[in-house]
Amino acid sequence: MLRTHNCGELRLENQGERVILCGWLHRSRILGGMTFIDIRDRYGVTQLAFDEQKNADLCMKVRSLGREFVLQAEGIVRERSSKNIKLVTGDIEIEVTDIKILNHSKTPPFTIEDNTDGGDELRMRYRYLDLRRNVLKTNLELRHRLSFLIRNYMNENGFMEIETPFLVKSTPEGARDFVVPSRMNANQFYALPQSPQTFKQLLMVAGYDRYFQLVRCFRDEDLRADRQPEFTQLDCEMSFVEQEDVLQMFEGLMKYLFEKEKGLSFGDFQRITWENAMKYYGSDKPDIRFDMKFVELDCEVKGFGFKIFDDAELIVGICAANCADYSRKQIDELTEFVKRPQVGGNGLIYIRYGEDGIKSSIDKFFNAEQLKAIAQKFNAKTGDLMLIMAGNKAKTRTALSCLRLELGSRLGLRCGNAFAPLWVTDFPLLEWDEETARYYAMHHPFTAPKPEDYSKLFTHPAEVRANAYDLVVNGVELGGGSIRIHNREMQNDMFKALGFSEEEAKTQFGFLLDAFEYGAPPHGGIAFGFDRICSVFSGAESIRDFIAFPKNNNGRDIMLDAPANISSVQLEELNIKLK
Ligand code: AMO
Repeated sequence: MLRTHNCGELRLENQGERVILCGWLHRSRILGGMTFIDIRDRYGVTQLAFDEQKNADLCMKVRSLGREFVLQAEGIVRERSSKNIKLVTGDIEIEVTDIKILNHSKTPPFTIEDNTDGGDELRMRYRYLDLRRNVLKTNLELRHRLSFLIRNYMNENGFMEIETPFLVKSTPEGARDFVVPSRMNANQFYALPQSPQTFKQLLMVAGYDRYFQLVRCFRDEDLRADRQPEFTQLDCEMSFVEQEDVLQMFEGLMKYLFEKEKGLSFGDFQRITWENAMKYYGSDKPDIRFDMKFVELDCEVKGFGFKIFDDAELIVGICAANCADYSRKQIDELTEFVKRPQVGGNGLIYIRYGEDGIKSSIDKFFNAEQLKAIAQKFNAKTGDLMLIMAGNKAKTRTALSCLRLELGSRLGLRCGNAFAPLWVTDFPLLEWDEETARYYAMHHPFTAPKPEDYSKLFTHPAEVRANAYDLVVNGVELGGGSIRIHNREMQNDMFKALGFSEEEAKTQFGFLLDAFEYGAPPHGGIAFGFDRICSVFSGAESIRDFIAFPKNNNGRDIMLDAPANISSVQLEELNIKLK
């Protein structure tokens, strides 16, 4: 070993010991005849002290060292005269007797500090330098601990970790696939898996009744803060289970993680059906850290000559407690917010329940009595502000859901260190897509309908509910799963409902349909976004900084400069002709 201790380890108890530390030059400063260097490694920072009077040559040498030089310092641990209470090693310093330069460093393009001066792009290009910063180190440490805890819980509960292939076959359902050309099979392509869904089901057929895998998944979709083109799932499957068994097992996992990592304990997680989630929060992933449930209006507001209400499919609002004193400007800001294209609202109606009575933007159409009746519906009290939207049902719900979250943030109700887990259950099996005029599986085509709804698959497809569930924490969908179809006839019916011909179903999923004829057990499972678990646990919005080497918003690795061209020889081998 080139060192006796790391840079976060020495304390007053080590006083007088001769030690050797290795690390990067974090900072240096000269105070009269003394030179100080903070030497940094993964474990922390320790102060090195050089006294000009005792060793002038060494002091000269040290003053020529630059930031991020790699050093090996030998010396004696001594008590510091001015202690630094912010550092765990802040009581001591090393009186250095010898220092070696293990490697030189160019001046880094940004400062390796918590508040760095480097922009996003620059830090992505030099990700290895960015990863030296405490913030990212802390994130990766959290990720490591969580993966360790997950493996522990899964192992304790009898789950086996089994790897599944990365070179698979492209399927038309779900997001777009990343494809990989095959050299040995001209004009044919593998796809990278969007998830190991079919493999884990085949493992159930094979009898591995409790499977899990921390596995990379690949999806060619538009990126957002909580989406990366390659991300990690905790993928799980169990045989001989019903929905309740899966929910209990994985509620247990989440409680275990919260307890071990955060010291938090939870009672039973709340549950809500998809239908109620949409009705009360306008979203299938409600943030229930705060209440502000939707209130639907109807006869209270229709027929008073206000066209926007009279023509609306849905009139729905929220009540913001103690916000009646919002200024005109603040309300205008909220109105602008809902009108943004991403939010998609038409406009916003307000009713203020102030000390001086009820005032609203619809005073022309509703008298005080009528406004009071509306306020009653909202359970509003003096000091509250009601915000109402009207229009197409789905769009209005989505827009009001955005407004609810925006208000929650403005009012400080979405605090990062409070956690509100929620199971959303009873998702619809299918969802209609206007553009392609067909139904798609809301979860995936292997999800089982609720037995009591199965008979409606061809008569009222939109009404069929699935044994499907999501785990939502603080408004983030952390995981989703379902009880699966495990017999060929039902799976055939499902493909038929999705508009597949028998031939198409056979070509694309013949292997699974065949497997169902060799004793497939009843089974179900779930997959969690592991990167999302990490970000939610640390109260962050973006998953990017919980991934050592992520892609940017255009799906590029800026450091590698990938994707990139390939040589004409490679193209030829792959039988690919570029336009
Ligand atoms: P689903 O598609 O819902 O289900 O994915 C499961 C979880 O994976 C996470 N996730 C992502 N995380 C980061 N970047 C992405 N692009 C991304 N896409 C999804 C989410 C999501 O809840 N095979 C099924 C699971 C099952 O039925 O067992 C599946 O993949 O947190």
